[in-house]
Amino acid sequence: MKSLPKVELHLHLEGAAPPAFVRGLAAEKSIDLRGIFDERGDYAYDGFIDFLRVYEAATAVLQSPEDYARLTATVLAELAAEGVIYAETFVSPDFCGGGDLAAWREYLAAMHEAARRAEVVDGIVLKGIVTPIRHFGPERARAPALCAAETAGDFITGFGLGGNESVGRPRDFAWGFDCAREAGLRLTCHAGEWAGPDSVRGAVRDLRVERIGHGVRAIEDPALVGDLAERGIVLEVCPGSNIALGLFPDWKSHPVARLREAGVPVTVSTDDPPFFHTTMTREYERLAAATGWDEAEFRAINRVAAGAAFCDSDTRDALLKRLEKPDV
Ligand code: ADE
Ligand code: ZN
Repeated sequence: MKSLPKVELHLHLEGAAPPAFVRGLAAEKSIDLRGIFDERGDYAYDGFIDFLRVYEAATAVLQSPEDYARLTATVLAELAAEGVIYAETFVSPDFCGGGDLAAWREYLAAMHEAARRAEVVDGIVLKGIVTPIRHFGPERARAPALCAAETAGDFITGFGLGGNESVGRPRDFAWGFDCAREAGLRLTCHAGEWAGPDSVRGAVRDLRVERIGHGVRAIEDPALVGDLAERGIVLEVCPGSNIALGLFPDWKSHPVARLREAGVPVTVSTDDPPFFHTTMTREYERLAAATGWDEAEFRAINRVAAGAAFCDSDTRDALLKRLEKPDV
């Protein structure tokens, strides 16, 4: 499974920071991070809201464009070792300069340069999806949307929304999505993770997204499942994240296979891998055990992901060719 070429569409950059990386930066900067690690040195949290707290506490060590360049390089090296050949990562101006456009440009340049280097060294391609944080509220989502619109291009290709889904309604965030769409960005939104089918419906209807982050609770509404299948709305499913955060009790009860059987285009990602003790390879292995999917099915899922990637057609064509190869 490790050498199978993979496409990952749903990955939070800060959420992919290995604990040792975060501790290293904390030591350099004398930042006290007690309360976010367990005795083994792993991230420690209790449920989704506490996960968000720990996630945000860990970002305190990321204070400069150089820190983000190091993080990008570290994460891409780990992804490449898992067979990932193309990834999209959520990046938040809130954490990179506090929504200030000039500062954001500096952070972005540093991340983009690190991504270019990784492409040369490991052949992995990275694109960025600008993502305001939902629980910071609709007002604070405007600055990141403007940052996204101003920097749309070769690296920033998408716009989304992460954070606590129970805060606000999708339409409260429509201004940012309209702004991003006008700038030519492709759209996705976390929905159907901590809220039910109405949240997914609202994201599709009011934000006009073409992909949904998670979307797995659509399974509670067969009419919605049919609608997603018919419209070809792609789900960025992160089963290990859902199980670690307690959304489903185990791999057997996760709905990804049922959604796929119903014709919904599903893809597989890790979300925040070290938080959930997962990697792309582990996701595939656990899915294979729970669903019986074989290599051909994972290859088909990766073709769906390549088709839904927020990239230009040359990048997509190259990606599809690389996915045909036996291994990376
Ligand atoms: N930010 C990082 N991981 C997230 C998740 N699983 N849901 C919502 N926001 C997030
Ligand atoms: Zn996510």
